[in-house]
Amino acid sequence: MPSTETDYSFLRKFIQSRSENILDPSRNDIFDARLYRLLQVHGMSGIDDLVRRLRLAADPMLDQAVVEAMTINETSFFRDQAPFELLRNELLPRLIERRGLQRSLRFWSAACSSGQEAYSLAMLIRYHFPQIAEWKIEIVGTDIHADMIRRAQSGRYQRMEINRGLPARLLLKYFTRDDDEWEVTPELRSLCHFQQRNLSHTLPALDVYDGILMRNVLFYFSDATRKRVLQNVHVALQSDGFLILGSSEQPAQLDLWQPALDDKTCYYSPR
Ligand SMILES: C[S@@+](CC[C@H](N)C(=O)[O-])C[C@H]1O[C@@H](n2cnc3c(N)ncnc32)[C@H](O)[C@@H]1O
Repeated sequence: MPSTETDYSFLRKFIQSRSENILDPSRNDIFDARLYRLLQVHGMSGIDDLVRRLRLAADPMLDQAVVEAMTINETSFFRDQAPFELLRNELLPRLIERRGLQRSLRFWSAACSSGQEAYSLAMLIRYHFPQIAEWKIEIVGTDIHADMIRRAQSGRYQRMEINRGLPARLLLKYFTRDDDEWEVTPELRSLCHFQQRNLSHTLPALDVYDGILMRNVLFYFSDATRKRVLQNVHVALQSDGFLILGSSEQPAQLDLWQPALDDKTCYYSPR
């Protein structure tokens, strides 16, 4: 039986209820394209067959696979560059000066996809701030997509991923080659921890960070979800910490956030 508007409408609501991602109601073809492989793997005849199985609510693994298939995991090392320059020139030097007694720093790469953002931050810290080599540094990467988290944990990247944004001097210093792949060195990997986490769920208590990068994910959410997620982030950020969003994203509630603009990029401090 061909898929109907009712099937696509069920899928849109299903995805929103699990990941809060809002999918364009005029683009049913996105489901066809992104779910094609999953249908094949599970031996299903079409979207209608998939919807029938999802309605039974009997297979949590299938539910998760559908949610994951509908995410966009686009990322790269040092993506957009400007936020990393800001971190290097302004945000990290200021934090390091303030944390001289504690000698520890904790960051969150929220919606980290396959981990390039977390490792970029780790490289930046290790390469440019040798004076904190003995500090306790933790970079927590989280994403809703279990496979992305496994990839981030493996720290292994293909040539095409390495070629996007990673300067040669950092590749040589922080990666070893293994056939067609490059692997993050154990020392760099020891700074980064990855876990599957849904941003729309409440954060673990006492999970507090000095800096949060939450880039290129808020635009998949509704205004209400964005607001809720950013309220959670506000609670999880140290009062003198910083939040960096994607270049086209902004916090909805400016009463919670003080924006600061340098010539190329923007970051937010909790009010
Ligand atoms: C476009 S990628 C952005 C990756 C990285 N932050 C960057 O800017 O390069 C968006 C990521 O958000 C994740 N995502 C989408 N909805 C999510 C949710 N509700 N909770 C956690 N992660 C989510 C996706 O799995 C995907 O890996």
